[in-house]
Amino acid sequence: MERTFAMIKPDGVKRGLTAELLTRIQRKGYRVVGLKQFVISRELAENHYGEHKERPFFGELVNFITSGPVVAIALEGENAISGWRGMMGATNPANAAPGTIRADYATSTGENVTHGSDSPESAERELGLFFKPEELL
Ligand code: GTP
Ligand code: MG
Repeated sequence: MERTFAMIKPDGVKRGLTAELLTRIQRKGYRVVGLKQFVISRELAENHYGEHKERPFFGELVNFITSGPVVAIALEGENAISGWRGMMGATNPANAAPGTIRADYATSTGENVTHGSDSPESAERELGLFFKPEELL
């Protein structure tokens, strides 16, 4: 059984997509083992997206991800890391396969509705950033 970190970004929360996205996650068969809605601090945002610190869009990315509440989700299931990435689709919604979340719900790379850890190392790191061990059930 694998765990991954998923997040509904501020655009998804603002647009009222939370319930729909949680439904997709649960229909797929992943278990929600942690869940909370809150506004990310700049410190947490800069840490979470640390790998992109030198990229030109870093400031924009941090501003966006702290612009409103997100829903942080810990998921558990078989191959949850790559499976959830597959459900999200490509980073740029224009390249996302039909039926994926980014194809179905987003039009821009900057505001692409969801996040998912990209490797076992990222999943462990990001789950640790967003959840205390006792918050994972
Ligand atoms: P995440 O699950 O959010 O990490 O997306 P990803 O793994 O598919 O993409 P990546 O980690 O490469 O980029 C992280 C996030 O930065 C993306 O989801 C986008 O929201 C944002 N991003 C990436 N490239 C650009 C860009 O060129 N412009 C802007 N504004 N944002 C970008
Ligand atoms: Mg990423």
